[in-house]
Amino acid sequence: MAMQRSIEPSVHYDRITDAWRYIFGDNFHFGYFKDPKMGLNQATDALVDALADLGEFSNESTVLDVGCGIGNPAFHLHEKYGCRITGISTSQRGIEIAKMSSEEKGISHNVAFQIADGTKNGFGAQSFDIVWVLESSHLMEKERLFSECHRVLKKGGQLLLCDLMLKKRPGIAEHFDYLARLKLAYPLGYLSMKKAFGRGKNETFDYYAAKARRVGFIGVEQIDVSDEVLPTLEHWRANMSTHRDAILKTFTPKQISDFIAASNLLEDFFRNGIHGYGLLKAVKP
Ligand SMILES: C[S@@+](CC[C@H](N)C(=O)[O-])C[C@H]1O[C@@H](n2cnc3c(N)ncnc32)[C@H](O)[C@@H]1O
Repeated sequence: MAMQRSIEPSVHYDRITDAWRYIFGDNFHFGYFKDPKMGLNQATDALVDALADLGEFSNESTVLDVGCGIGNPAFHLHEKYGCRITGISTSQRGIEIAKMSSEEKGISHNVAFQIADGTKNGFGAQSFDIVWVLESSHLMEKERLFSECHRVLKKGGQLLLCDLMLKKRPGIAEHFDYLARLKLAYPLGYLSMKKAFGRGKNETFDYYAAKARRVGFIGVEQIDVSDEVLPTLEHWRANMSTHRDAILKTFTPKQISDFIAASNLLEDFFRNGIHGYGLLKAVKP
């Protein structure tokens, strides 16, 4: 692997990783609730399965997992398909936990982790069959991320990505009306979301598809799974109260209330048809 350039550390993820395990479980992403009665852990694995079903994995596939969290999606994919995976993240703490778990499972020769930035990963061109981007794209500039994914994919390789996406960009009048209503309901507003979820940027479904095509991908497919992921927010809030004492070891009471305000706000965005959740597949010709 080429020498890695300096990486901006993921301060947010280093700070929250331990506490988030109580809220999210070991998968730092939304669940896919085929049945609203499913448990959160089952639903987060189901999201991995739903995205993986769009691709063609085999025990010979080489996979790059961009923004790998603490490694759970990579472990799940390896267990299911026998593929070889390299997970990258800018969070020191995330990579430390992922490496430890991989060693404990005795699979570190097949599922390895390292610090690297998804927009400048340092791997050689055409190194992977599949690039997997599970709920980390909102933290990166999309065109740089997509062109880096395209560069490291082999010909015929697949990009599989999912994330929060905007279902529409509100018009100016709608936007101001909505913000006013929002401010009344949640005085902390956007700030609470940034503090709770990190400095991300959500884009529309169309924007994602256009960026993928712009850097050279073809066969772009998108699936809207907004309804299926929505019950996740209720689970996060419930875990926040169940594990409040443990979470208070890392978070202040203010950070806990910020998180709850942020998930209420996000739920409101979903119900108003502004935010949604999309799966995307694209192919390198
Ligand atoms: C919401 S978490 C998703 C983690 C994992 N994919 C999962 O589903 O469990 C976002 C992840 O992206 C990582 N991340 C943030 N910015 C990144 C970047 N520029 N390059 C690589 N990883 C990044 C974070 O450290 C974190 O691991």
